[in-house]
Amino acid sequence: MTSILQCPVCRELLLLSADGYQCSKNHTFDAARQGYVNFLLAHKKHSKEPGDSPEMIRSRRRFLDLGLYNRVSDNVNEAIAGALRGPETEGAFTILDAGCGEGFYIKRLKEFLLRGLGSRTLDYYGVDISKFAVRQATQRDKTMNWFVASINDLPFAASSFDIVLNIFSPANVAEFSRILKETGSLVIVSPGPRHLNGLREIIYPIAREHAAPDIAEQAGGLLALSTTTRVNYRIELKSSAEVMDLLAMTPYYWNIDLGTKSKVEALDQLATDVDVEIRVFRKTSR
Ligand SMILES: C[S@@+](CC[C@H](N)C(=O)[O-])C[C@H]1O[C@@H](n2cnc3c(N)ncnc32)[C@H](O)[C@@H]1O
Ligand SMILES: [Zn+2]
Repeated sequence: MTSILQCPVCRELLLLSADGYQCSKNHTFDAARQGYVNFLLAHKKHSKEPGDSPEMIRSRRRFLDLGLYNRVSDNVNEAIAGALRGPETEGAFTILDAGCGEGFYIKRLKEFLLRGLGSRTLDYYGVDISKFAVRQATQRDKTMNWFVASINDLPFAASSFDIVLNIFSPANVAEFSRILKETGSLVIVSPGPRHLNGLREIIYPIAREHAAPDIAEQAGGLLALSTTTRVNYRIELKSSAEVMDLLAMTPYYWNIDLGTKSKVEALDQLATDVDVEIRVFRKTSR
């Protein structure tokens, strides 16, 4: 039974019921047959189907399964193992991937930690606002806790997680800090200045460098930067299908005109940097 869940309507504790979860005020959230629970409240949705579309999710799944981002994932896993080594805590480690997409990173994290921390109990949670993403994620692992919810309104009680992971997704630092244990860490993965430069050079005639979102500023007095790891390497895409899948994973997909899209579609190969920053923040109250 999961005891860290909190009702998104009244904030009471949620308990497992025959069909999903229920609070003491009888707000109910049914589990879908695919093995996830939808906690998005209809009146808080800004669109009918918020988050990434089925097409974007399928592209992401195909692209990530090529293995070209495994090095990013490996480095994220090392950063998390480092953060978990710090505090002496008891009981299960709880890990949330906030904006988990189709589940690539948390699934690899689970496999990695099973090898290194085998004897310790670990509970994994993946949350995304896109129900298509979460449906795909359930296929990666049936035993994790998969929820459709917004990072702005997470269905978790305060001080519940050892790790909150947030990869290339919108972040709400105040909400992440609320659900982190006092000994917990927030791991943010964001594009570095050279990220996907090969693609950007084609899309924008004058190449622009990425400006990293300033999480440290948002973190205010809540979180303090502990470590930063930069991961920068070259990848080569070998077909138009691979290039288009990569494009569909980026915000450029929505922002470019049809002419530029055709220019990208005409490429049957592409070399580019992958450049990411992995930053670990700790609660400042420690
Ligand atoms: C660029 S994708 C990254 C997904 C995954 N972390 C990865 O790197 O493969 C951004 C994800 O954030 C999700 N998202 C957007 N707004 C969100 C919100 N308010 N709450 C939760 N997820 C959100 C999207 O549905 C999408 O799956
Ligand atoms: Zn309730």
